[in-house]
Amino acid sequence: MTTTVRTRVAIVGAGPAGLLLSHLLDQAGIDSVVIDQRSRDEIESTIRAGILEQGTVELLDTIGEASRARTVGHRHDGIELRFEGEGHRIDFAATVGRAVWLYPQHEVLKDLIAARLAAGQDLRFGVTAEGIENGERPRVIARDAEGNPLEIEAEFVVGSDGSRSVARATVTGSSTGGYFREYPFAWFGILCEAPPSSEELIYSNSPDGFALVSQRSDTVQRMYFQCDPETDTAAFSEEQLWDELQKRVPGTTLKQGPIFQRDVLRFRSFVAHELRRGRVALVGDAAHTVPPTGAKGMNLAIADVRLLAAALGALLLDGDERLLDAYPETASRRIWKAQHFSWWMTSLLHVAPDATDFDRRRQLGELRTVVESEHGRAYLAEAYCGWPFDA
Ligand code: DHB
Repeated sequence: MTTTVRTRVAIVGAGPAGLLLSHLLDQAGIDSVVIDQRSRDEIESTIRAGILEQGTVELLDTIGEASRARTVGHRHDGIELRFEGEGHRIDFAATVGRAVWLYPQHEVLKDLIAARLAAGQDLRFGVTAEGIENGERPRVIARDAEGNPLEIEAEFVVGSDGSRSVARATVTGSSTGGYFREYPFAWFGILCEAPPSSEELIYSNSPDGFALVSQRSDTVQRMYFQCDPETDTAAFSEEQLWDELQKRVPGTTLKQGPIFQRDVLRFRSFVAHELRRGRVALVGDAAHTVPPTGAKGMNLAIADVRLLAAALGALLLDGDERLLDAYPETASRRIWKAQHFSWWMTSLLHVAPDATDFDRRRQLGELRTVVESEHGRAYLAEAYCGWPFDA
C-alpha cells in the first residue's frame, strides 16, 4: 500500500544544498520533507572537497553553534601558486579583504544533519525517489527503506539530488540535457597520516602536471595529483604515490606518512539547460557540475539555495512568483562565473596530455601574468573567496 505524506516543499537529496534549504525554509516558517536514498552514515562519511567560501560560512552561521566551520575549521587568508619550482602567495586579505575556511564537506553534513534533526525536521534516509510528477501539486514517487511505495505531495519540489539527479529529467526533459565539457585528466586523491607540509594550500604546476597540497588536521593531510581518468587506484604502491606527488611539487619537500584512502576524481563541467519547470526546480550538482580545481562545487550549491529559499518564501508566503520566475536567470549568472573560474583554474595549472612546447610556455606566461599583476591576483582571490552574494 502506498503511504502519502503531505508537506509544503519536498526536497529530494540530503546533501549540503537540500539540508540547508530545509533550514532556511524552516526559518521562514515553511515545512518541508527531505529524503535521500543514502544512509546517514554514508552521507556523513563521503569524502569531498574541503574549502568553504566566506559567504558559505556566514550562511552556515545561521544554524547556530551546530556549525563548527569556525571552531573546528581553519581560516585561510591565502594560497600558494607554485610553478618553475617557486611559490607565489596570493594574499586574500590584502587583495579582497576576504578569506576561506578549510572544513571538509562531510563535517558540514554532520553539522547540518544534527541541526536539522534537533529542529524536528522530517528527514528520511534510505528513501529512493523514482520520479517526480509536475503540476499544481507536484509529487515525488519514492520507495522507503523497506521498499514500500511512498509519495510526497507538496506545493513545490526541489531536486538537490546530485549529479545523477532523478529530478533533472522532470525539469529539462532528459536526464542528461545540458551544456557539457569533459577534460583529458582527473585527480588522484589521497588521505595520509602526516603533519602538514604547508600551512596554506599549494596549487602546483610542473612539467609532470598538477598537484594540490591540502590539509585536514594536524595529523591528517589531503593531497591530489593530476592523473589519467582511467587510472586504477590500486595501480600505485605507496612509494610510487609519494614519487608522483613529490615530482609535481618541485622546490618543496612533502612530509610523508601512511596513505589510508585513495580515490580518482573525474573532471566534468555541466550546466542543465533548464533550472526550473513549473513547480520543480534544481539546485547544486543536480543543476551543474564543476571540475574540482578551486573547490566551487558545494559553495555554488549553497549560493543556489540562498536564491531559491528566498523565491520559495515569496511564493509560498505571499503568492508572489517573481523571484521564482527570475531564479534560473539569477542563479545562472553565478553558475557561469563559477564555471568560468573552475575551467580557468584547471587550464591554468594542468598539463594536457597533448600539450605542445608552445602550450607549456604560454601557460607559464599566464601563471606569471597572474602572480605579477595586481588584477590577476585580485581576480583569483575574489573568485576563490566567493563573489559577495549581493553582487
Ligand atoms: C580541496 C579540494 C579542492 O578541489 C580544492 O580546490 C582545494 C581543496 C580539498 O579537498 O582539500
